[in-house]
Amino acid sequence: MAFTIKVNGVAQSVDVDGDTPLLWVLRDVLGMTGTKFGCGMALCGACTVHIDGVATRSCITPIDSIGDSAITTIEAIGATPAGAKIQKAWLDREVPQCGYCQSGQIMSAAALIAANPHPSDADINDAMSGNICRCGTYVRIREAIKQAAQGG
Ligand code: FES
Ligand code: FES
Repeated sequence: MAFTIKVNGVAQSVDVDGDTPLLWVLRDVLGMTGTKFGCGMALCGACTVHIDGVATRSCITPIDSIGDSAITTIEAIGATPAGAKIQKAWLDREVPQCGYCQSGQIMSAAALIAANPHPSDADINDAMSGNICRCGTYVRIREAIKQAAQGG
């Protein structure tokens, strides 16, 4: 079935089953591999994208549920004010280790800062608790979010 979705401001036509997860469409159909597959069950956060600005697990989001909503991925998050601050802070703090979880971490952090420019520790915990890092970069992630919240 044909669907037209709006990814990073560009309309993309894809021909897939309606229950195909957005993650599969991004990676396998559109070739946008910045968004990662981790668990496929909404447990790790590696696949996080924004749908209308809300951090969303693309591995459990069927393509037929998206409609006209705006999808933003890691490939374009740096073009948003919050995403630019987060990416700068991530670089300054040298947050990644292996890197596998980091696009999802950045997408969750950018959604947090966009919605709540000065988050408390509890706000950060709430926003980031679903993003797992096997390398244990959590301390640097928190530092980077705080740096971004202080203006970058
Ligand atoms: S791959 Fe989607 S939450 Fe793990
Ligand atoms: S940096 Fe390796 S899993 Fe997070």
